[in-house]
Amino acid sequence: MLSIPSKLNLSGESIFSTIAKLSNQHNAINLGQGFPDFAIDPTLKKLVQEAAHGGNHQYAPMQGKLVLRQAIAKKFEKTFGLNLDPEEEITITAGATQALFCSIQALVQKDDEVIVIEPGYDSYIPSILLAGGIPISCPMTKTFKIDWDLISQCISSKTSLIIINSPHNPTGQILEAKDIQLLRELTRNTNIKILSDEVYQHLIYDKKQHLSLFADEELRTRTICTYSFGKTFHTTGWKLGYALALPPLTKALRSVHQWNVFSVNSFIQIALAEYLNNPSHYLNLPQFYQKKRDLFAEGMKQSRFKAIKCHGTYFQLYDYSALSDEPDILFAERLIKEHKVASIPISPFYSKDPNQKILRFCFAKKETTLQKALKVLQSIH
Ligand SMILES: Cc1ncc(COP(=O)(O)O)c(C=O)c1O
Repeated sequence: MLSIPSKLNLSGESIFSTIAKLSNQHNAINLGQGFPDFAIDPTLKKLVQEAAHGGNHQYAPMQGKLVLRQAIAKKFEKTFGLNLDPEEEITITAGATQALFCSIQALVQKDDEVIVIEPGYDSYIPSILLAGGIPISCPMTKTFKIDWDLISQCISSKTSLIIINSPHNPTGQILEAKDIQLLRELTRNTNIKILSDEVYQHLIYDKKQHLSLFADEELRTRTICTYSFGKTFHTTGWKLGYALALPPLTKALRSVHQWNVFSVNSFIQIALAEYLNNPSHYLNLPQFYQKKRDLFAEGMKQSRFKAIKCHGTYFQLYDYSALSDEPDILFAERLIKEHKVASIPISPFYSKDPNQKILRFCFAKKETTLQKALKVLQSIH
């Protein structure tokens, strides 16, 4: 018998795989995992076809195709007035997940402590553990605000990294100016780095603005920001993303990236570069998704689920305590088996079950899918 010890010592399957399997088995309407069920823009599809026909099938440069890095620089000039250097400040990665993984491996040494806000995206902690670091979990307040007092108490001489995510999965909350001010004050004159996961940067509603940490002069010196083309252009299966960081942090990130995947899909990078040159492709997204958010929220008012207002991402949290006392995983499973609607329970986003009666629903779906799900959810008493 082979002995294969695990460096992670975590329970095997992610909740997304468990729910996806169960949802398929029961032919449920899947509002679970965060991916759209509608077609991508035909213009983007055509650009990919053209890029594939035009060659571009060999290794891209380690840091990514220059045209794509230039297009990203242009986008940040347009959206934040930033003057990014495509050579030394932008790295193309295999989705945001790989950018996050490389950042954590680069910035966390053995026994370093990393502040992780919970609930939080599930790839952070395994990456910290693989780097030999110690995750220090800081739950949000009951109303899902970042608990800066708690974070301040958790910071020690061993803290090397704080992970921030805005717009935030799963809560849909967003960073406000006062959060950024507190983060500046907490990290000033320290050696603490920040990993800012901004994959939902364009999915922000109610005329609010995304506050990128890269747009903050002080925080930028200690921050790596990560992004996802999958989330932005409804192409999660392509696993293309990127990281922004000033040259010293980019150097650290690339020192891992080059031994991890070296470089990522070449022809899709060419297509994305061209597609990014039309700003309406990302500037129209808030309007596009806000319509879906509002349609789902309006319909859910006729159910017994209670909304926790979402300002960004394509997720909406709902409290089901009027319907059941069951733990969230059991309730989510029953919702699939008995009612054929899949959602994601939020306890797996915590290292310690907070015992909340809350589910996450993904509204990045066709109107017909949302209407079908609403009909079922409204009928549950
Ligand atoms: C907060 C957050 N970060 C990162 C990712 C991963 O992005 P990608 O699919 O580009 O790896 C996700 C995907 O769900 C996410 O929700």
